[in-house]
Amino acid sequence: MLFEQVNSIIAEIEQASPDTPEALEQFRIRFLGSKNVIKALSGEIRNIPNEQKRDFGRLVNEAIAAAEAKFQALKSGLDAAVEQISAASLDLSAPGEPGIWGTRHPISITMNRIIRIFERIGFVVAEDREIEDDWHNFTALNTPEDHPARDMQDTYYLRGSDNLLLRTHTSSVQARLMNVQQPPIRIIAPGRVYRNETISARSHCQFHQVEGLYVDEGVSFADLKQTLLYFAKEMFGATQIRLRPSFFPFTEPSAEMDVYLGTDTEDNYRLTKGTGWLEILGCGMVDPAVLDNCGIDSERYTGFAFGMGIERQAMRLFGINDIRLLFENDTRFLRQFATVV
Ligand code: DAH
Repeated sequence: MLFEQVNSIIAEIEQASPDTPEALEQFRIRFLGSKNVIKALSGEIRNIPNEQKRDFGRLVNEAIAAAEAKFQALKSGLDAAVEQISAASLDLSAPGEPGIWGTRHPISITMNRIIRIFERIGFVVAEDREIEDDWHNFTALNTPEDHPARDMQDTYYLRGSDNLLLRTHTSSVQARLMNVQQPPIRIIAPGRVYRNETISARSHCQFHQVEGLYVDEGVSFADLKQTLLYFAKEMFGATQIRLRPSFFPFTEPSAEMDVYLGTDTEDNYRLTKGTGWLEILGCGMVDPAVLDNCGIDSERYTGFAFGMGIERQAMRLFGINDIRLLFENDTRFLRQFATVV
């Protein structure tokens, strides 16, 4: 009986044909594992009559040897097969898959150009929060509650708050900075701003601005004019600028700057409505009240400030005719700027 059982195990071993690594592992556990079936039977040797013990022992050893031999043979066969399969699926001559690279957004490209121009004359980048409080966005900038100038900027207030809002301009960074730093201050503040405007090809409820601020002893309107002329030359290749009187609550006097692009090309003719002049930014001498609001001695210091939108510049620069393209982030559109710096 016990002899028969060992013989049938040997037969089982010989017939086994595991063809996956998992099946081979099952084979190993059944015949060679620590609780294998051969071991279990060999314990039965005490129930074998003495004269047959030798033969039984020999048969058990035969079963163990068969299991080991079979396992080794199967293992090397399987290893070779696995190797073959992976070699077959690895085609070293196949072309590589191109990685998908991100590209700089046209707004970032335009913003970086503006920043680089001002950095060359000593301005440093300052950034601050997009969720602002009323004081930094309006009151400190000489726009108290009920001031009609607040109507110029249709504001998003945070739900449940009449103090927190999405900043309507990067001018809020002026107030943030002057509150913590004494002159000389020479900063350029790029960032996203928000206004409750209907979205169309020409306007959007979110857009970007760059703010500039220079406060020191003896800063004059002539400094402002010369700085802006330098910027217009670098950015637009323009040789002339014009400052038109305007109004902003935080500057006095205030002006709007146009650059002369001329009407030589069809684009410039259309863009400047036949006048050759393109409006670029608002600017002025920082109102002494703003300096005082922010803890800067307006008797000792003066300053100039300017602010401009970025989308319009990006659209002009790249011939984009719909502002919404700048916010949809369609990669077919964005990829076209991959080589622009
Ligand atoms: N904050 C103004 C706006 O969003 C732009 C501006 C005008 C900024 C004049 C200035 C400035 O710093 O002096 O329309």
